[in-house]
Amino acid sequence: MEIKNEPSYVDARKRSREKIKIISDAYIMDNEISKIGVGKKYHIITYGCQANVRDSETYAAILEDMSYTKTDNMDDADLILLNTCSIRENAHNKVFGMLGRIKHLKETTKPDLITVVGGCMCQEEAVVKEFEKKYKWIDVVFGTHNIQNLAKLISESIDKNELIIEVFSKEGDVIENLPVRRENKYKAFINIMYGCDKFCTYCIVPYTRGKQRSRRMGDILSEVKECIKEGYKEVTLLGQNVNAYGKDLDSNLSFAVLLEEVAKTNIPRIRFMTSHPWDFTDEMIDVISKYDNIMPYIHLPVQSGNDRILKLMGRRYTKEEYLKLFDKIKSKIKNAAITTDIIVGYPSETEEEFNDTLDVVNYCKYDGAFTFIFSPRENTPASRMEDDVTLEEKRDRLARLNEVVNKYYKENNEKLIDKVVPVLIEGPSEKDKNLYSGYTDTMKLVNVKCDKEDIGNIINVRIIDAKTWSLDGEKVDE
Ligand code: SAH
Ligand code: SF4
Ligand code: F3S
Repeated sequence: MEIKNEPSYVDARKRSREKIKIISDAYIMDNEISKIGVGKKYHIITYGCQANVRDSETYAAILEDMSYTKTDNMDDADLILLNTCSIRENAHNKVFGMLGRIKHLKETTKPDLITVVGGCMCQEEAVVKEFEKKYKWIDVVFGTHNIQNLAKLISESIDKNELIIEVFSKEGDVIENLPVRRENKYKAFINIMYGCDKFCTYCIVPYTRGKQRSRRMGDILSEVKECIKEGYKEVTLLGQNVNAYGKDLDSNLSFAVLLEEVAKTNIPRIRFMTSHPWDFTDEMIDVISKYDNIMPYIHLPVQSGNDRILKLMGRRYTKEEYLKLFDKIKSKIKNAAITTDIIVGYPSETEEEFNDTLDVVNYCKYDGAFTFIFSPRENTPASRMEDDVTLEEKRDRLARLNEVVNKYYKENNEKLIDKVVPVLIEGPSEKDKNLYSGYTDTMKLVNVKCDKEDIGNIINVRIIDAKTWSLDGEKVDE
C-alpha cells in the first residue's frame, strides 16, 4: 500500500482568501499509459448527485483515453470504478455493499480485476482509514481534487501491484482541460462552479468538494457552444448553489449575467441546479422570465418550514422569506414548476416544528420534492447536536410528509391533462416498448405515443393521462 496523500477533516474545513487557480494543462495522457486498457473493459458505478454524474463522464473519457472500452455488465469488466457519495448514511452503505460484491468477483471469476474508488466518500478521513485497514485489495483510492491524476494512479497501481491512495483535502482549483464522454446525446451537464461555502450544519459537501470555485464565463460558454455543435438540445448548468456563481471571480459577474449569455447562444433548453433560496436575485427571475429557452423549472430546497430548525441548519432564511421568494417566482415566471428538498427529524425537531414543514408544503403545493430523514454526517456540526427524536418518529414523519407531497405531485400532473406541452424525446420508454419518453419544459416525465424519428427533438405533446410520477401523452401536429 502506498499512501501519497490522505484526507484530513481539519484541512477540508479551511477557507482562505487566496485566489483560485485556473489550471489548463493539468491533464496529460502519457503515451505508455494510453495503451494500458487495450482489449480491456471498464464499468463505472455512480452514486449521488449530478456533480458525480458529470464527473463520471470525465472518468469514462480518461479511461477511454487509456484505451479501455465501456461495458454495461459489471461481471464483464476488467476495471470497475465506483464514484461514491457521502450525503447520507445509506449512500455509504450502498458503496460498502458493492465493494463486497466486487471483492467476490475478484476472488472468483476476475482475479485481475482493477478496482478504483473515487468521489466524495474518499474525501472522508474515516472512510479512507477503513479502506486502509480492511480493503487493501482495492487498487486506487482518489479524491475529488485530483481527477487529472487518475490515469497515472491506475498505471502506478498496476506496476506496483498495490493499493495507491491519493486524496487531497484542499480548497481546490479549477481544472479546465479534462476530457468528457457524455452519457446522453441530447442533454448535457455543464459545471459552472465547484465546491460550496455555505456550510449548512448537516451537510458534508463543503468538506468533500472544497471551496466555492466558479469557472470563467468564457470557458462555460465555449462548452455550451461545443454542445450545440454536437447537436445537444439541452444543457443543465451545475453547481451546489448556482445563484452564487461568479462572486468569487468578479463583483460584476452573477448567475443572472451568465444565464443571459447562455440563453443568447440559442440552445433550445437551459436548466440549472441547485438554487439556494438565500441568494436568488430579482435579476435572475427577470432573466428566466425573459428568455423562452430558459426552462420554467426551479429546484428550490426549503429543507424545513420552521424558523428555529432553519436557523439550526444554518440556512440563512426564514419561512416567511422563503415563501415570499416562492410567491415572487410563481407570479413572475409563467407556469413555473417548483420542486424542493426536505429533511425531517432534524436533531430536536418537535412535532409542531414538523407541522410547520407540512404547512409550507400545503402552501407551496410543490411539483415534486425529495424528502429525507436527517442523517448525521461525520464531523458536521449537526452530528454533534443533541437529538431526542426517535428513529420511529422520524420514519413516521417522513411517511406523513410523503403522503402530502405525493398528493400534490399527482394534482399538479392532473392539471396538465388535455394541455399541449413541449417534450424533448430521449428514447424508447422503459414502461412500454411502443412508447417514447422525455421531459416537459417543467421537468415532468412523459410517455409519448410518437415516432422513432422524434427522438432527439422537442415535440408538442397532448397530455392524456396523469399518474403520480409520470404523464401519458400523444404527439400533436403543429
Ligand atoms: N446544494 C444543494 C443540496 C445538495 S445535497 C442545496 O443546498 O440545495 C441534496 C439534498 O440532500 C439537500 O438539499 C438536503 O435536503 C439533503 N441532505 C444533505 N445532507 C443531508 C443529511 N445529512 N441528512 C439528510 N439529508 C441531507
Ligand atoms: Fe450542502 Fe448547504 Fe452547500 Fe447545499 S448549500 S451543498 S445543503 S452546505
Ligand atoms: Fe453526494 Fe458528493 Fe454530490 S456527497 S450529493 S456526490 S457532492
